[in-house]
Amino acid sequence: MTNRTKAWLSVGLLAVTILAGLKLASSLQDNAIARQVAGNAPKTSTPPEQVVLPLPTVSTNDESVAGQTLYQEKCGACHSLDQNRVGPRHGDIYDRRAGTVPGFRYSAALQELDLKWSTQNLDAWLQNPSQLAPGTSMGFRLSDAKEREAIIAYLKSVSQDLN
Ligand code: HEC
Repeated sequence: MTNRTKAWLSVGLLAVTILAGLKLASSLQDNAIARQVAGNAPKTSTPPEQVVLPLPTVSTNDESVAGQTLYQEKCGACHSLDQNRVGPRHGDIYDRRAGTVPGFRYSAALQELDLKWSTQNLDAWLQNPSQLAPGTSMGFRLSDAKEREAIIAYLKSVSQDLN
């Protein structure tokens, strides 16, 4: 072997060593990332007590959050979830038989209305209460279909929470 060949060989060897070193370093780094992802990373990562968990809320989807606001705006003057006011309380209205909230004085129309509140008949009710129950004392209509949908989704979500 000439000196020149030797020189080239050692350059080549050096290059191979460097490449191998880089590869090792990057796989070590991958391991470190994998450990962090797995949650058992050493001191530098966020300790478990700092992990922010979402607080439990009554409603979990966007539609029923919008529904809650709409409910307060449109129905809040007469209804609440937990108290009878001008209208009966609504905390467990979904799937409840019409006219059966204890302690509320319903019109004869509501007492005689023979149905359980579902998405469909709540929608009909909110469009026009007097058409569903002629003689009812609820004199309020909600003409916007999207708003009815959001409010009904909200009432459904709170009712399920109570069950
Ligand atoms: C101006 C007052 C008023 C507003 C506003 C109002 N309600 Fe009512 N609501 C009443 C009254 C009064 C009754 C009882 C009707 C009866 O006995 O005939 C009632 C009854 C109901 C019932 C039947 C309850 C049952 O126990 O069977 C539902 C459902 C209802 N309202 C939903 C709503 C929703 C949802 C809104 C808002 C989009 C709303 N109401 C807005 C006054 C109101």
